Amino acid sequence: MNQLPADFTILALETSCDETAAAVVRGGRTVISNIVASQMATHERYGGVVPEIASRQHILSLVPVVRAALAALPNGWADVHAVAATHGPGLSGALLTGLNAAKAMAWQRGLPFVAVNHLEAHLYAGWLGDTPPPPFPLVALLVSGGHTLLALLRDHGQYELLGQTRDDAAGEAFDKVARILGLGYPGGPAIQAAAAQATPGGVLPRAWLRDSYDFSFSGLKTAVLHRVQDRLAQISRLSGRKGVAEPSQLDAPFVAQMAYAFQESVVDVLVTKTVDAARRYKAQAILLAGGVAANRRLREEMIRRAHVPVYLPALDLCTDNAAMVAAAAFYRFHAGVQHGWDVDVTANLPL
Ligand code: KG4
Ligand code: ZN
Repeated sequence: MNQLPADFTILALETSCDETAAAVVRGGRTVISNIVASQMATHERYGGVVPEIASRQHILSLVPVVRAALAALPNGWADVHAVAATHGPGLSGALLTGLNAAKAMAWQRGLPFVAVNHLEAHLYAGWLGDTPPPPFPLVALLVSGGHTLLALLRDHGQYELLGQTRDDAAGEAFDKVARILGLGYPGGPAIQAAAAQATPGGVLPRAWLRDSYDFSFSGLKTAVLHRVQDRLAQISRLSGRKGVAEPSQLDAPFVAQMAYAFQESVVDVLVTKTVDAARRYKAQAILLAGGVAANRRLREEMIRRAHVPVYLPALDLCTDNAAMVAAAAFYRFHAGVQHGWDVDVTANLPL
């Protein structure tokens, strides 16, 4: 255990996917700066993240993003006590850019360095801010584009995996269903916006996987696909034109209805399992994390059905950012962890 000064200031980098991010966080909880350069627009026309393009874009964005993050400190580098970066899980090439840049900067400045697990970082978004920190033990639901997992956190660094997805991640399901419905990328915000236009009603299946805290979303995705295919066939027949209709020809009320029913199904399963686990393990709190934790319905339904306080990171701290990496790094340094220059990326690093 290291007793760190209250103003211990960390510069962190995050490049595991398609956001080039740098942040400065003081005392593990106070965000001094949080800069995110999103590549969303670059990848949008491919319908998903192209790894090679992501790596190249990170290299272009890293220096300006770090400069912007440091600009918030009166004395720049002189105010930084340590450096951190994500080393997995994520896209190897993308991870390499941020990890190597961070190691080089720490080495050149003679500062301690720690590599951070991206999943752990998402959880630590819950520690950022000036509200009281979440109490242990807590049940955390981490739902992002790449992961869906339910974990019991007994203390800092003490995690027990309770369940995870058996197929698609929750965010991945949002993205794929958005594509099926002809909505844009990323799918989460697009589905949320479309669903808000729907008249409530219509039910899609829920995969409960009884007696397990695991999740499955691929059946739900297929159910949407079949409804859409039926609708497109119907549109073709009515128009009398040859060939299959395109998702862009789907009518807005149908798209809204599908988005609504899909979102309700995902939210119902996520909330039911999380609340059940919190009861079983006598958790003091529930913590939501990851990009899908930005979903409005998920946030309100979790609060409505939980019997313990629900900790919700600010929206911009749910999706990928470097402030959460700095927060996780603070508790790592506090536990006495520090990495050498030989630390490498691990694309499939588990929690
Ligand atoms: O955590 P994140 O930024 O990146 C990963 O580590 O994967 O999560 C991105 C995911 C995307 O799949 C995106 O569609 C989803 O989070 N997402 C949402 C919302 N905002 C982002 N899903 C549902 N509702 C939202 N409002
Ligand atoms: Zn993430």
